Amino acid sequence: MDIAPFLDRRRRLIARMGEGVAIIPTAPEKLRNRDTSYPYRADSYFHYLSGFPEPEAVLVLVAGADARSLLFCRERDADKEIWDGYRFGPEGAKEQFGFDEAHPIKDLEEKLKELIANRPALWYSLGHDVAWDARIAATLNAVRAQSRAGKRAPSRIEDVRAVLDDMRLVKDAHEIGLLRSAAGISAGAHMRAMRATAPGRYEFQIEAELLHEFRRHGCQYPAYTPIVASGANACVLHYVENHERIEDGELVLIDAGGELDGYASDITRTFPASGRFAGPQADVYDLVLDAQAAAIAAIKPGATFIAPHDAAVRVLAQGMVDMKLLEGSVDGVIESEAYKRFYMHRTSHWMGLDVHDAGEYKEADAWRPLAPGMVLTVEPGCYIRPADDVPQAFWNIGVRIEDDALVTASGCEILTADAPKKITDIEALMRDR
Ligand code: GLY
Ligand code: MN
Ligand code: MN
Repeated sequence: MDIAPFLDRRRRLIARMGEGVAIIPTAPEKLRNRDTSYPYRADSYFHYLSGFPEPEAVLVLVAGADARSLLFCRERDADKEIWDGYRFGPEGAKEQFGFDEAHPIKDLEEKLKELIANRPALWYSLGHDVAWDARIAATLNAVRAQSRAGKRAPSRIEDVRAVLDDMRLVKDAHEIGLLRSAAGISAGAHMRAMRATAPGRYEFQIEAELLHEFRRHGCQYPAYTPIVASGANACVLHYVENHERIEDGELVLIDAGGELDGYASDITRTFPASGRFAGPQADVYDLVLDAQAAAIAAIKPGATFIAPHDAAVRVLAQGMVDMKLLEGSVDGVIESEAYKRFYMHRTSHWMGLDVHDAGEYKEADAWRPLAPGMVLTVEPGCYIRPADDVPQAFWNIGVRIEDDALVTASGCEILTADAPKKITDIEALMRDR
């Protein structure tokens, strides 16, 4: 493993802290049922700074004249390693992950008391985990109890996430490499899914094709639960049952992305089960594709986060009026938000270690300006549920087209461009299946 990016992030965080001690625990293991655990996934902040994969680990960063990084982790254990696999142990962790010090996790409380005594600030994610909040409070109180011995507890508690979120918002070269790989694998999975789809197959069979493709190219997990939604299911935004038979004449909406070494991808494609778009399906599809093109054109340094959304909404609103789904002027439909009946979500979110990644969307009250290295999704859609005032030909058409964009010096790079989205390209791919 190349540890340089992790060392660099720790150095940058310490510099931004200026003084004090940061405590960053990884995620706990979680039981799924009885004695069976969910697959283990490290906490994203902890992973960002350490790369250390084991549970029961805490990173401590000291800022100031004696700046250093310390890891607390499980000790080696011959018996447990027979059952559950290799553990680095403090020595191995220090050497292989480049910490200045590493200690057994059982020593954490005692060492923390020494580490935070007489420091001005404690940097910690207060409120993220009540069990951890209680441990931190107990440690602070233990230091306060030593006041007659001249020990002072930190008087300032800072939210370390505020600094880390800002750092995570602008991806470094290592992160961009992984995001690009995750995007490429996921684009391949969408192509595989298109080829595998036919009337009579079940949604879960197509989900299986996606998961197969993610895993065989090294993705450890899907970045989120895949959505494979045929027909009316496409109008349920978070449909995840994936249990229905795909019928001829329906569209299939797939929202799925793999996670590679902690980094997400997030792609949606919508295509016809038969391989041919029919009637109003093509009109709605091309409208969403045009909206996405307008949104992508709006992504450049200095533009605000909301600019792509505004651009997509304008195109969609025009289309909804043209197709007689809505009445009135485009400005009126935008002003009254009538378009939300068919397009009720936002066009973008940050993406990185988390599919809905860390990072504020506004600074003070203003939408954040985009800058090179930021990664955001572009995912307009149009979802038309049956209703008396909607022409029947449009009923149950649900379309979303989602790509992942890296902001560059002059515009953006679409990381997920390999997954076809022009009608002619989708139909050509499905013809050859
Ligand atoms: N797949 C989650 C999203 O598109 O936001
Ligand atoms: Mn998605
Ligand atoms: Mn998304």
